[in-house]
Amino acid sequence: MKKIQGYTNSIVILHWLIAIGVFILMGMGWYMVGLEKGTPAVTHYYNLHKSIGLITLALVALLISFRLRNQPPGLPDCLPAWEIRAAKAGHYIIYIFLIVVPLSGYIESNFAKWGIHFFGYHLPSWGPENKNLYTIFNWIHVYSSNIFAGLVTLHFLAALKHMIKRNKIVYRMLPSSSRPEA
Ligand code: HEM
Repeated sequence: MKKIQGYTNSIVILHWLIAIGVFILMGMGWYMVGLEKGTPAVTHYYNLHKSIGLITLALVALLISFRLRNQPPGLPDCLPAWEIRAAKAGHYIIYIFLIVVPLSGYIESNFAKWGIHFFGYHLPSWGPENKNLYTIFNWIHVYSSNIFAGLVTLHFLAALKHMIKRNKIVYRMLPSSSRPEA
């Protein structure tokens, strides 16, 4: 019998690496903004957050380029049309946030006086400190990351619903060797 058809292995690996990155960055982001300003802990966590965030942004760029070249097989007919439309729309919105959240963090950091230390290596800033631009992109990063947390929760609940219904859709995001027969 044929195995369940799903995403390519490169997309599966990128999906799970980005999921781990987003999970860590959310937790670290909320934790670090509550720390006392001007302490070594703030410097440490902010720099780590920016470094992991930039790696996640690079993985997102790779994922999008692979995804544009590899169309996954359509969702099975057991799903109602509205659910297929909702899943597609939800995935588009997640991609938009996957770009806006890390990019706004990167841009805001370029206009802040602290700049970016990528795992200890100081990345050149785009220009001098600019408080207005920093405030705008900081606002975008903070609000978009919090909205994104809600979207990720919905995405997880949708996957959980498929698992409970045992309709095999979640297997599409597992490596091809771990997928059961269709
Ligand atoms: C998918 C990637 C990312 C996620 C999910 C994420 C998530 C978050 C979250 C949840 C916060 C706390 C927001 C709050 O105050 O409620 C935060 C803060 C922050 N993030 Fe990110 N982040 C990402 C990427 C980046 C990148 C790439 C950079 C910079 C290179 C960055 C720089 C910052 C900075 C500087 C803050 C502190 C903002 C402040 O002090 O108000 N982030 N992030």
